[in-house]
Amino acid sequence: MSISLLVASNDEHFREMIRENLLNMQNAKVLAEYPEVNTNLYIRVLQDLERHPEAALVVDLSFDFETGIAAMGKVKQAVPELYVIASNFQADGEAVLSCLRNGANDFLTQPLKRIEFRDAMQRLESTPRRVSTTGSRLGKIYTFLGAKGGVGTTTLAVNFAAVLAQRKQQTVLLDFDWTSNEVAMQLGASPQYTLMEVGENLGRMDQALFEGFVTRDPLGFFLVGPPDSLDQRGYFTEPMFREFSTFLVEKYQSIVVDAGRNVNDDVALAALQASNTIFLVVTQEYPAIRNAQRYLSFLMRMGFSQDQIKVVINRYTKKHDPHHASLEQVQSTLNQAAFYGIPNAPAFLAAVNKARPMVQDREAAGEADRVFRSFVDKATGVKREETAAAAVGKSGLKSLISR
Ligand SMILES: Nc1ncnc2c1ncn2[C@@H]1O[C@H](COP(=O)(O)OP(=O)(O)OP(=O)(O)O)[C@@H](O)[C@H]1O
Ligand SMILES: [Mg+2]
Repeated sequence: MSISLLVASNDEHFREMIRENLLNMQNAKVLAEYPEVNTNLYIRVLQDLERHPEAALVVDLSFDFETGIAAMGKVKQAVPELYVIASNFQADGEAVLSCLRNGANDFLTQPLKRIEFRDAMQRLESTPRRVSTTGSRLGKIYTFLGAKGGVGTTTLAVNFAAVLAQRKQQTVLLDFDWTSNEVAMQLGASPQYTLMEVGENLGRMDQALFEGFVTRDPLGFFLVGPPDSLDQRGYFTEPMFREFSTFLVEKYQSIVVDAGRNVNDDVALAALQASNTIFLVVTQEYPAIRNAQRYLSFLMRMGFSQDQIKVVINRYTKKHDPHHASLEQVQSTLNQAAFYGIPNAPAFLAAVNKARPMVQDREAAGEADRVFRSFVDKATGVKREETAAAAVGKSGLKSLISR
């Protein structure tokens, strides 16, 4: 049995103490830390539980007891089966009772004592737990990450958001490629407001304000990205992204991110961490595959799991020549099955020239449109067997459907 903790505390020292105490225990680790205990805590917890249903939560109530209790109560309301350990300096009857009434399964008095902490971990270990977040109504974050420039990351992100919007999903498309800024270009949009204004207005962000100032694509999704001018990187930080994404997953069903090629940018990394699925976009060209290999090992080192990352081969061709690796070569180099292959199709280029997503004009796009839609089906877990089967059969991509 192993111990996996999510730790919420405004106090860096408390979080550090938990980490230190776990060092002496086998198979015990902190999976995520939340530096603020507030009423949005449940959103972050839910997002992390989707990936780690075995985790338990430690909540430090000492910064602001009332707020902490309310935050904990909201978490328990969202996930009643979650094992929660409350912690506070004061441990009088009233405080402990209040914790129990708000769903705590255990209580730890501060300052933390090694023996008491170990006992609490033993109690946790002996309690069977695995929460289900299937009832969660939080939006999903899908991030497209390019293993190399020009592999089609923006094209796939834009069309993905477009298909979801056509399916009447409440969708937001975020451009985190600070240098290219091509999402707006591919959509023929000239946004007046950018991530900078989002950052400035986070404190009073609500759906009306957000939709009032970001761009709405004619297909119905919302779009926001960096400033067009290259002079300014734009002030938008990682904590801002965390707050923004909390707002987004609560209000929208799908959030699609174009992360460009950035893995070591703070904001892009935070987006990857918050993602339900990361699509690593490659082509069959050797430099792209080599980079994909580097990206995968970096992401694994950063604690991402293999099932979070799906390899998508763009411009897929069965042709196997000195410039293009075969599907088998791609898969064996990356040590991972490819999730999907998107064919090399003139319809994508034509769409970029028209500055509208390829999937907008289904007739003109033909086969490429059908394959792309079955990719979205598979990625979002929608079963449309007939469509998928038809697309796979025609394009000969059967071997790529790996799941
Ligand atoms: N499957 C495809 N078939 C044909 N052309 C494609 C395909 N995917 C993308 N393209 C074309 O390739 C070009 C580059 O695509 P895109 O800008 O989406 O790549 P990117 O990886 O986002 O590039 P950058 O690194 O500049 O951000 C575009 O002209 C696009 O139309
Ligand atoms: Mg791009």
